[in-house]
Amino acid sequence: MALIRKSKPFRWRRKHLLGLRELDAEEITYILDTAKGFEQISTRSVKKAPPLRGKVIVNLFFEDSTRTRNSFALAASRLSADIIEFTKKSSAVSKGETLLDTARNLEAMGIDIVVIRHSAAGASKLLSRNINACVINAGDGYCEHPTQGLLDVYTIRKIRGSLAGLKIAIVGDIAHSRVARSDMWAMTKLGAEVTFVGPPTLIPTEVGRLPVNVSYSLDEIIEKVDVINMLRIQFERLGGNPFPSIREYSHYFGLTVERMKRAKPDILVMHPGPINRGLEMESEVADGQNSVILQQVTNGLAVRMAVLFLVNQAAAQVS
Ligand code: CP
Repeated sequence: MALIRKSKPFRWRRKHLLGLRELDAEEITYILDTAKGFEQISTRSVKKAPPLRGKVIVNLFFEDSTRTRNSFALAASRLSADIIEFTKKSSAVSKGETLLDTARNLEAMGIDIVVIRHSAAGASKLLSRNINACVINAGDGYCEHPTQGLLDVYTIRKIRGSLAGLKIAIVGDIAHSRVARSDMWAMTKLGAEVTFVGPPTLIPTEVGRLPVNVSYSLDEIIEKVDVINMLRIQFERLGGNPFPSIREYSHYFGLTVERMKRAKPDILVMHPGPINRGLEMESEVADGQNSVILQQVTNGLAVRMAVLFLVNQAAAQVS
C-alpha cells in the first residue's frame, strides 16, 4: 500500500520582518496569499476589520517617506490598530537621545509593533534584538526595504499569475538601493531571472556574489525583459559623481518613449517612487499604458496589512 504523506500546514513564525534575504519562497508566498485576502477590505464601504483592535503601532521614521509611512498608517487603521507617528525633527533625538533609548521609551508606553525607517543598515535588526515589540523594517540604509520588495512581487504576480521564468531588469542606482536588494531576493526566490542594469559606478561591488546577471547597457536588454523596474538616482547617498552628467545618464539609462518602442508590448513598467521625471524615465512612460506604478502603491496597502497581521500573530504565539 502506498504511503500518502500529508504535508504540514504552513505556520508563520516570525515576529519581525527585517529583510527578504532570510525568507524562503514558501514564506514569501504565504505573505502574498495573506495580502490577497486583505485586498477586499479596501473595497468595502466600511474599510475596517478588527484583527489588530487594541494593538499599538509606532511609525518610527528617521527618514522622509510618502508611500511607506502613509501606507503603514492606513494599513494599521484598516486593521483597527492605534498608530503613533514619530518624526525625528519633533522628537528628543534632536536633543541627543539614541535610537535604542527612543524605542525603549516608546515601548514603555505599551507599543506592540515598531515600523522603522533609518539611514543606518541594520537599524531594524538592532531594535529587534533589544526590544520585545515586533519590528518591521521600512527601509534601512542600502540594505533592505522588504515591504517594497513584497509589494513589487505581489504586483507582478497579480498581473502575470506567477514570477517563474520571467525576465526582470532592475535599472539605475543599484549600489545605493535597498529596493533593488529586497526585489532581487523576492524575485529570484519566486523563480524570476533578474538583471541589474546601470553604469559600472552604480552597480554594487559585491554583485558577483548575488543571484543576478549584470548589464551595462539598457539598449542591450530592453527587448528581452518582461518587467522593468526603474530606480531613482539616490542623490542624497551619492558620494561623488558616478556619471559625467544627468543628461548623459538619462541618455544611456533613461526609459524613454523611443526605447519603449523596442520593448515587449506587454512589458510591465515599475518604479518604487519617488520618480525623478525626465531623469530615470519620461513622464509619458511613467503615466503610460504599461506603467503599473500606482498599482504598486495600491497593492502596498494589502501587503502591509498582511505583514502587520502576521507579525502580530507570531508574537501572540510565542508570548
Ligand atoms: N518606495 C518608497 O519607499 O517610497 P517612500 O520613500 O515615499 O516611502
